[in-house]
Amino acid sequence: MIAGQREKVNMITIHKLLILIMGFTLIYDYFNTTTPIIVRVPKPKFSLLGPYNSTNYSVDDAYNKLIDITVFRFKSNPQPCLDYSAGLFLVVIVASKPTNYENRMVIRNTWGRTSDSTKVVFLLGESNNATVSQKIINESLLYGDIVQGNFDDAYRNMTYKHVMGLKWVAHHCPAAKYILKADDDIVVNIRALQQFLARELSPWGAKGLITCQVLEHAQVQRSHRSKWRVSPTEYQAHYYPTYCAGWAVLYSQDVVPRLLNVAQNLPYFWIDDVHITGICAQQIGVARTPLASLILNKHRLDLLTSFGPDSAGPFIFGPPDLNVDKIKTIWKAIPE
Ligand SMILES: *[C@@H]1O[C@H](CO)[C@@H](O)[C@H](O)[C@H]1NC(C)=O
Ligand SMILES: *[C@@H]1O[C@H](CO)[C@@H](O)[C@H](O)[C@H]1NC(C)=O
Ligand SMILES: *[C@@H]1O[C@H](CO)[C@@H](O)[C@H](O)[C@H]1NC(C)=O
Ligand SMILES: *[C@@H]1O[C@H](CO)[C@@H](O)[C@H](O)[C@H]1NC(C)=O
Ligand SMILES: *[C@@H]1O[C@H](CO)[C@@H](O)[C@H](O)[C@H]1NC(C)=O
Repeated sequence: MIAGQREKVNMITIHKLLILIMGFTLIYDYFNTTTPIIVRVPKPKFSLLGPYNSTNYSVDDAYNKLIDITVFRFKSNPQPCLDYSAGLFLVVIVASKPTNYENRMVIRNTWGRTSDSTKVVFLLGESNNATVSQKIINESLLYGDIVQGNFDDAYRNMTYKHVMGLKWVAHHCPAAKYILKADDDIVVNIRALQQFLARELSPWGAKGLITCQVLEHAQVQRSHRSKWRVSPTEYQAHYYPTYCAGWAVLYSQDVVPRLLNVAQNLPYFWIDDVHITGICAQQIGVARTPLASLILNKHRLDLLTSFGPDSAGPFIFGPPDLNVDKIKTIWKAIPE
């Protein structure tokens, strides 16, 4: 063989090799994007729906009653789900304080941007300050995403707010497959959440799903210095049942009317996450599944903002108690 021919053969081999590598890369990508990933939630305690499962449910709820408020009404009641009677993927209900205008604005501009599959509303009570009330009316007219009830927006009224959220979803967004209850000081990695729900769980929805950061054997605070102090008359036992940290709780469609039904009929208890995701969830017999590593903790948050998303690993929502600047910083660090 002469030198020129050998060179030609080598070139052909290299080309074949390159084509082969490209082929494998394509196949690898294909499988990575089309085959569902195994559920990353350890020991799921819920079931997934398929295309033929019915998700029809009926709401048996007194519209004008909210626990012990017998003259309840929505002061502001937007209807973002009205055009989606055939089904909507995700509804996010965000508990917010009337004066947290900035948090709501940042959420609207970052993770809470409304899309065809996801609707975001804010849950508010009433303010006793006329200026604040007028600002809320203006904000509500401008953005159409304020769900407001006729109870005082107060710390010990958090449970009214959460149950109002369930009521609003059950009556006005019953076709939503998944419902996320969040606080207004967190980051939701909305794309990761949608992929997690649609691909790792099921695009058709789930049944009996309550997932979150699960808290077990939490002791009831009796100290007068504690923000969470609860007297024995308010709650007798020393420990709370297993419950979800209230800053981010993911429900499946079927769970909402069932929780609402129980919450409407139990005596009021002001710590909403304990009450709804602990006491009420126990009554309807729905287990709480920990999201474990899919929740961003403070350590991984530092990795994310310092070294980028790859170093932090996958997550679907971030730690609570963030200020608006931190929400913006984290959002910038998440790839869209
Ligand atoms: C979904 O439908 C199938 C077939 O009808 C049934 O066997 C299964 O139990 C249903 N799953 C749920 C979670 O309801
Ligand atoms: C849902 O149930 C109601 C009554 O229970 C029935 O009238 C309606 O046709 C059902 N819808 C679907 C899509 O199955
Ligand atoms: C009402 O709110 C406005 C604006 O936040 C504030 O400037 C004012 O002091 C408040 N009024 C009362 C009576 O608290
Ligand atoms: C609400 O909007 C009206 C009309 O645009 C405006 O005149 C008023 O100053 C606004 N009120 C507040 C509290 O922002
Ligand atoms: C909660 O709201 C109710 C109804 O508006 C009100 O009577 C009550 O005083 C509020 N609780 C607190 C702690 O403000």
